[in-house]
Amino acid sequence: MRITAAALLAALLGLSAAADRSRRIEYEDLPEVLRHDLAAHAIAAPAFVAYIDSVQADTDRRVAEGEQEHLIYYALQSSRFTGRARIEPAVSARRFVAGLPEDERKRLLEDPSYVPRAGWPPSERARVADLLNALRTEPKDARLAYFRTLVEWDRPAAAIETLYADYVRVARFLYRKEFAAGNDAARIASLYESRPHSSDTQIEAGFGVYLGLGTLHALEPALRITRVLVVGPGLDLAPRTDLTDAVDPQSYQPLAVADALLALSLASDRDLRVHSVDVNPRVVRALEAAVRGPLTIHLFAGILETRDQPLRPEYRAYVDALGAAIGEETPAPRLVTSDRHYRRSIAVRPVVARALSVERLNIVTERLVNEPPFDVAVATNVLTYFDDRQLALALANITAMLRPGGYLLHNEPRAGLVETAASLGLPLLHTRAAILGGPPARPLYDTVWLHQKSRTPY
Ligand SMILES: C[S@@+](CC[C@H](N)C(=O)[O-])C[C@H]1O[C@@H](n2cnc3c(N)ncnc32)[C@H](O)[C@@H]1O
Repeated sequence: MRITAAALLAALLGLSAAADRSRRIEYEDLPEVLRHDLAAHAIAAPAFVAYIDSVQADTDRRVAEGEQEHLIYYALQSSRFTGRARIEPAVSARRFVAGLPEDERKRLLEDPSYVPRAGWPPSERARVADLLNALRTEPKDARLAYFRTLVEWDRPAAAIETLYADYVRVARFLYRKEFAAGNDAARIASLYESRPHSSDTQIEAGFGVYLGLGTLHALEPALRITRVLVVGPGLDLAPRTDLTDAVDPQSYQPLAVADALLALSLASDRDLRVHSVDVNPRVVRALEAAVRGPLTIHLFAGILETRDQPLRPEYRAYVDALGAAIGEETPAPRLVTSDRHYRRSIAVRPVVARALSVERLNIVTERLVNEPPFDVAVATNVLTYFDDRQLALALANITAMLRPGGYLLHNEPRAGLVETAASLGLPLLHTRAAILGGPPARPLYDTVWLHQKSRTPY
């Protein structure tokens, strides 16, 4: 085949356009206040490239370890590949850690690299062995097919020993979070700053965003939003509790944001664009495939209403209406509808699916360039994974991608965030609680933080 000069040029231009969409941040991109802060931590100009390299490498490691942890959560909970009883990961972690001799338990909790000699607890090992056995023939199920790419299924004896270290990491994190940290929110938050990345997502995350957008509408009734950035949309592969695997992994947030904007008349589907960025390639691939359409989203509730845990009427109304602005309700197979978390399925209108796009990007170390600025950025359950330096860089990158007067919605309650954001030209405009339900003394709630980028350059 002969390639003409024009075709070659077009291909090269196409490639360079794709390559130019995002780039790594440079020291010169940072506002003065952030340079000062980094310098105080021995990250001045000469050390900046090495620092960004180390954040990038650490992120890659955290993503890779997170994938292995999803596999462990799946192995313990799914009934797709075994008839054995489901094991609740936190219960397993408590049993495992409490069963260790005192000195080993202490070492496990203090030393993140320590792997106790005890070996796999038998029931957990049996489930993992069943999973490895199921992976010997190419699975049709999307989760099984993905996990097959992560393990040496053709060498099960070696694979099961390698996975033991992943199980230990899971047990250490769950024990420290669920049992050792008690109600100490700061201690729990600090665990997240270094833990492996998780892509967990539930429709519950959309409620705070919906309320935040409602506030925006009330504050600025004439506001029309056309460009939204979703940072870390996530994908519900295998969470640490309440695994629902009746359908293939789904990402809810880009659709929930579009739904909220259309329902609140803040946007029109004629010109809305919801662009997502995520550092996990699996999340990006799944969203790319979803938006190619036709797209049906199956809505599952993470929180179930019980007598002890009533839902707030506003939250119930949110869930009842979710999806109505982006498509039509459509029937689903019985296997799906019989799941007790199932709510409904929505056939998403093609114009809405076409409004979605996604690409891989590390919000701490990279930013989009040659892209029109965004009206709103949404980042829920993402900022919590960053230490204070990384958080400041992520906020600087988000600010740079917003138009003057644009908004950031997030749910990170960390002390100091509001001051850091203000110093970067992204002051707090409004904050509120989003109460989902629960008994009055122990409500289940999220917090919503709405920042607005200064209209004058910083
Ligand atoms: C826990 S999930 C939250 C998903 C969704 N936002 C929600 O609230 O349900 C976090 C997501 O953020 C992504 N993420 C973590 N660090 C990131 C980074 N540095 N840049 C971009 N995405 C990141 C993860 O890959 C994951 O998909």
